[in-house]
Amino acid sequence: RAVKTVCDLAAKKAAGEKITMLTAHDAAFGALVDRAGVDLVLVGDSLAMVALGHDSTVPVTMDEMIHHAKAVRRGVREALLVGDMPFLSYQAGERDAIVNAGRFLKEAGCAAVKLEGGAEVAAIAAAVVRAGIPVVGHIGLTPQTAGQLGGFKVQGRDAASAAKLEHDARTLAAAGVSALVLECVPALLAGRITAELAIPTIGIGAGPHCDGQVLVTHDLLGLFRDFTPKFAKQYARLADQADQALAAFKREVTAGEFPAAEHSFGPLVEEKGGLAD
Ligand code: KIV
Ligand code: NA
Repeated sequence: RAVKTVCDLAAKKAAGEKITMLTAHDAAFGALVDRAGVDLVLVGDSLAMVALGHDSTVPVTMDEMIHHAKAVRRGVREALLVGDMPFLSYQAGERDAIVNAGRFLKEAGCAAVKLEGGAEVAAIAAAVVRAGIPVVGHIGLTPQTAGQLGGFKVQGRDAASAAKLEHDARTLAAAGVSALVLECVPALLAGRITAELAIPTIGIGAGPHCDGQVLVTHDLLGLFRDFTPKFAKQYARLADQADQALAAFKREVTAGEFPAAEHSFGPLVEEKGGLAD
């Protein structure tokens, strides 16, 4: 059953149906993940690293996010499109948050926005929701502020940190978020949060008890050869296939094998006398 609005997410949870979300950063990937039938397509600020070559998500700007969200919009027909609010596009205040979140809806045709942070951003999330913009929360490992968390590591391992995450989840749910991404959280803690909340949890590195799962599509497809985290299951190794295909192109052109007659227009050599076919 396809999700039509963010309201359907809670219905899916109530019906015990798993929710799927994948990232896309351009129209081609938007079309690919949409064809797979996922519920949500996230224009993640992973854009910064995956497509723009930055080594964190911090530098990506609102204008860059909107530019890519518009492209993804053109590739997606069915799934709900979620725009990821980049670092400092919402933290400075409710007005900033509403204006920037609104751009994802008005300029890029997104149905919702996602923002990182726990109780400390709940008032801002609530203001965006009151403005009529559905919000997806994101707690646990929050890459925009990974430095403050001591790096890219699992959150909520000790009792105090687990209690904070449970408090964050409750506070964001009370603020009116439509769903909550849990990143790098122990499976049992994610399960506890999932059981307590009426809104769905969408896990990434958060175990099987979440209501849904999200991965970065480039990770899932094995498009990177360098480090990928433990939770990022590679369903394919497209980087290896790409290597082979690209090397074959170079080899064939160098050897004069490509393009052959079937890739060319008209005869390959001047026909002397006789009739051309
Ligand atoms: O930016 C992103 O791709 C994300 C997902 C990993 C949830 O935030
Ligand atoms: Na993100």
